Amino acid sequence: MSGLLKSSIGRKFAMALSAFFLMFFLLQHFAINITSIFPDNGATFNKLSHFMGTNGLVQYVMQPILIFGVVFHFVMGFILEMKNNSARKVSYAKNNGAANSTWMSRNMIYSGAAILAFIVLHFIDFWFPEINTKFIQGDWSGLHDGEFRYFHELQHKFVSPLRVGAYVIAFVFLALHLLHGFNSAFQSVGANNKYTRGLKTFGKIYAIGIPAGFIIIALFHFFNH
Ligand code: HEM
Repeated sequence: MSGLLKSSIGRKFAMALSAFFLMFFLLQHFAINITSIFPDNGATFNKLSHFMGTNGLVQYVMQPILIFGVVFHFVMGFILEMKNNSARKVSYAKNNGAANSTWMSRNMIYSGAAILAFIVLHFIDFWFPEINTKFIQGDWSGLHDGEFRYFHELQHKFVSPLRVGAYVIAFVFLALHLLHGFNSAFQSVGANNKYTRGLKTFGKIYAIGIPAGFIIIALFHFFNH
């Protein structure tokens, strides 16, 4: 494993694998969160959140793997950026920006850093309180005043225009990151065949559709609390 990470191709490959994993996580995270805008006053969202929040496999196996995946992706991203910069002490004579690469591909480190900042805020908002309730206070009931608490907690987070604004900006950066990242990850694992065009179209739909969906969720709760 450490041998694989010593070569530049190995690092790109490992980066792509962690990206696939995170893109899959994002899809399931979206699938659960979109139920919070269903016209059932949070009933479906509460049920799904309680299942995910109390299931042993999710909590003790998938959650630690996810946290490892998130940390690995960020650390590897910074390492790749640093190695790329030091390998190219003299800049390419023909690297004249927009002419031969996209803005997204040249600024992955900045869109990634913006997402990292969002994740810190997001963990303070949702994840740390969840860990505190369950693992420190030992309350696994999911209840507050006799009702499931998840939907109300989520609604409460989307009241402040500042926080909603920060979330929306972060989702725009997420779209920019995915617009390059989705196809780049497939290229790193060698997916360059007759399906590439279809994959590219699907990549664009995913990269714009998922962040746009998250924006809709945030704005929906902001305007409907
Ligand atoms: C409107 C959009 C979003 C909402 C309402 C939302 C909501 C939540 C909630 C309620 C949790 C706590 C789950 C729990 O531990 O019980 C959570 C965790 C988390 N969210 Fe989000 N999220 C949103 C967008 C995102 C985005 C775009 C990302 C990634 C870029 C993300 C990454 C994470 C991660 C990594 C966790 C911790 C993992 C876990 O659930 O165990 N979220 N989110």
